[in-house]
Amino acid sequence: MANKISLNPTSYHGAGAINEIATEIKAHGFKKAFVASDPDLVKFGVTGKVTDILDKENIPWKLYSNIKPNPTIENVQTGVEAFKNSGADVIVAIGGGSSMDTSKAIGIIITNPEFEDVRSLEGVAPTKNPCVPIIAVPTTAGTAAEVTINYVITDIEKKRKFVCVDTHDMPIVAVVDPEMMSSMPKGLTAATGMDALTHAIEGYTTKGAWEMTDMFHLEAIRLISKYLRSAVANEKEGREGMALGQYIAGMGFSNVGLGIDHAMAHTLSAYYDTPHGVACASLLPISMEFNRDYTGEKYREIARAMGVEGVDAMSQEEYRDAAINAVKQLSSDVGINPKNDRIKEEDLEQLSIDALHDACYPGNPREATKEQVLEMFRQLM
Ligand SMILES: NC(=O)c1ccc[n+]([C@@H]2O[C@H](COP(=O)([O-])OP(=O)(O)OC[C@H]3O[C@@H](n4cnc5c(N)ncnc54)[C@H](O)[C@@H]3O)[C@@H](O)[C@H]2O)c1
Ligand SMILES: [Fe+2]
Repeated sequence: MANKISLNPTSYHGAGAINEIATEIKAHGFKKAFVASDPDLVKFGVTGKVTDILDKENIPWKLYSNIKPNPTIENVQTGVEAFKNSGADVIVAIGGGSSMDTSKAIGIIITNPEFEDVRSLEGVAPTKNPCVPIIAVPTTAGTAAEVTINYVITDIEKKRKFVCVDTHDMPIVAVVDPEMMSSMPKGLTAATGMDALTHAIEGYTTKGAWEMTDMFHLEAIRLISKYLRSAVANEKEGREGMALGQYIAGMGFSNVGLGIDHAMAHTLSAYYDTPHGVACASLLPISMEFNRDYTGEKYREIARAMGVEGVDAMSQEEYRDAAINAVKQLSSDVGINPKNDRIKEEDLEQLSIDALHDACYPGNPREATKEQVLEMFRQLM
């Protein structure tokens, strides 16, 4: 089967990139923007950095901000109604994965109304039409939703978080401006950055990985390992390196898939509202240990990309240990809690069943039994 790559037609990178938003809106002839962002970003003036530019350029816009972290079916459905009443012809998504994912689902349902129940979009949905054009402006350096063909929605009623995969949701422009990320507090910077590292490592070791995605993932691992500590210290260089590193990870994993870390992380968010990056980060050394014998030489390259010296002289066991230890060290340096004190013993069985049904699981290089998944969850307790 041929390998397929989908990326943004246009993306901007670097400080001040948000100034290009107005240029793009005008060049496409859009008349009014539907600005989708979450309430905290509105409150702290992050959304305002972009709407100020729209105002200055006389571009009308309407705000939609009923978006929570781990966004819900309800966030999407009220968004669809708001879009219909807005008179807008472009969505400007400003925020982390939650704002961008909600925007994708809204944009898809507007042009493919037969999926208005949202649930039927799970997995690879047979939508016929590209979504409403989206200009995506990430404010976290983590999910890379601005360049992925995925979005993730929470079904509160069924206690599930489901992944939708659809090339029709690709934002037409990504605006990756590190200055939009500089207001992130330390804990959020660390967790979202570790989410990006998880994308890069799972994407590099996933079943469908190939030369081109390996190239993206190794460069992402290198950049994230080099710059995450500095980003957590809110240094300019660190913010710039992370903005780029997380995007490059997205160029890769979006096209090949992930693995068991993300499958398990989704269930933790569905059950306990655990922030996505926190869930991914705490599971990363555990899932890497589980997969270690199914990854050929790849952990040597992960260790090298993370700056470990002398990897060529290491035995297989040594370089596999080195890669896992480098991840643990980075995680601990940026203050990630390796445990999750919300997990309840009585939930373990269902959490494990749900993880094995998640759309990310089939990409994992090693098959897992329910008991093995349960044992991995237990390591978080
Ligand atoms: N589409 C994809 O490919 C993809 C990939 C991975 C994860 N996800 C999904 O993305 C969601 C997580 O997104 P996220 O980790 O980016 O966080 P988020 O969008 O859920 O935001 C988390 C919190 O951080 C705040 N925040 C965001 N940017 C900020 C800034 N610059 N300054 C201050 N506060 C800021 C928000 O207001 C919010 O309260 C999850 O639902 C996850 O499943 C999607
Ligand atoms: Fe993720």
